[in-house]
Amino acid sequence: MKQIPTIKSTSGWLRSIRQINAILRPLEFIEKRTQKYGDFYQVTFKNSPPTIMTSNPKAIEEIFTASTGTFEVGRGNKMLSFLVGDNSLLLLDGKEHRNRRRLLMPPFHGESLQKCSEQIVNITNKACDRLETDKPFKVRSLTQEITMRVILSVVFGIDSGERYDRLRELLTTLLETFNTPLNSSLIFFPWLQKDWGKFSPWGRFLLLQQEIRTLIYAEIKERRELLASQNIETKDIFSLLLLAKDENGEGMTDEELHDELITLLFAGHETTASALAWLFYWVHYFPEVQEKLRFELNSLGNNLNYQEINNLAYLNAVVSETLRIYPIAIGTFARLLTKPMSIMEYDFEPNTWLIVSIYSLHHREDLYPNSKQFDPQRFLNRAYSNYEYIPFGGGNRRCIGSALALLEMKLVTATILSRFKLKLTSDREASRRHRPMLPVRRGLTIAPPSSFEMRVESKID
Ligand code: HEM
Repeated sequence: MKQIPTIKSTSGWLRSIRQINAILRPLEFIEKRTQKYGDFYQVTFKNSPPTIMTSNPKAIEEIFTASTGTFEVGRGNKMLSFLVGDNSLLLLDGKEHRNRRRLLMPPFHGESLQKCSEQIVNITNKACDRLETDKPFKVRSLTQEITMRVILSVVFGIDSGERYDRLRELLTTLLETFNTPLNSSLIFFPWLQKDWGKFSPWGRFLLLQQEIRTLIYAEIKERRELLASQNIETKDIFSLLLLAKDENGEGMTDEELHDELITLLFAGHETTASALAWLFYWVHYFPEVQEKLRFELNSLGNNLNYQEINNLAYLNAVVSETLRIYPIAIGTFARLLTKPMSIMEYDFEPNTWLIVSIYSLHHREDLYPNSKQFDPQRFLNRAYSNYEYIPFGGGNRRCIGSALALLEMKLVTATILSRFKLKLTSDREASRRHRPMLPVRRGLTIAPPSSFEMRVESKID
């Protein structure tokens, strides 16, 4: 049997230092390991199953194409149940997971998705109305407002009203709990999750969560009554979930509905908001990228056609490169082997964890020469396989919102660039002479710092 490079378990303070390093400086941490141990190595822990980390395309292909039932994912995502509940898609496996995905996928694809285009553009236009010439604005606040409004309207089918406004406010505040690298530790160290009243981070989190739950349950009750009394033709995800029945003719319980809605709301807007903020950063950091992008957008003329925007080659390359250089999720979900499996001629026992390092894959010099350089052109020069470029993961856990996220990134960019000339603020311009902005940890993801600002140079008539 071939021996895989192994990082031996440590205990006590050394282990804690490793963990803290991985939380506070995730990219340096993962880069150092890849440099030292290669693209396929094992980490062992005392009294826990080993974890295999890989950024090897061949191994990734074997993992993503393994037969269903080879892995369990819910157990690894258990740490998220405090946020999304126990009935979330993220925690399901096997038949239950398959059925739930089947139910959730259609509204995020094809014609249903294209119908969201107009909503996305309207929401973007409304959010941008408040931008004033020469006044700096926090880019992440703007992109987050847009993506939150989009996901609420896609999931709930509503975009105004008292309950909706309150829900938006509460969800935004709740997610601010994890907006710094230090606060993100709350997710990784359950012993920090102590309720010391409303002035402690966890106490505040619990209060907000309770208020959100009350609002969603009220919405579920109202929507159930409405669907029972009227035969309304509605295609939003909320109604689809409400009407869905399993093979025994049973519908989803209020608790199941709540957990799934919360999952979609969280998974669906934080990630896209960070990706969009990066996109605006890169497009304005490299004037030549902006110039090419504007040239391509201008070629469409004055009437923005959503389908045409979605198909633009250079815009697509800019979006792809944005998600390559700093993938919002640096790794896939952890997959736990439920049966023996051979990967790259190494044999693994059941109860072994497998994690694909998206960040290390996206920085392989053999695939992405000069990988630290932002260069959309690489996506025009060659096509990457589903095992070489994976911002949305892969296999049966591949992100269900990838098409929505990509459409959103393109339409928001086209809309904002058609209305404004933006600039990085002076601090960022000064730093351009030195080095580009670096990502920071934000909960489970990496993101541009919340302090990242831009300003409107001029409005385009
Ligand atoms: C740029 C934006 C986004 C990125 C980078 C992203 C990335 C990811 C990744 C890496 C995974 C794990 C895949 C794996 O382990 O193989 C995932 C799963 C998931 N994503 Fe996204 N995502 C984004 C946007 C969205 C949106 C807009 C939604 C909206 C609904 C969404 C919903 C989900 C869900 C529900 C899962 C779990 C799938 C399952 O367990 O079967 N994501 N995403």
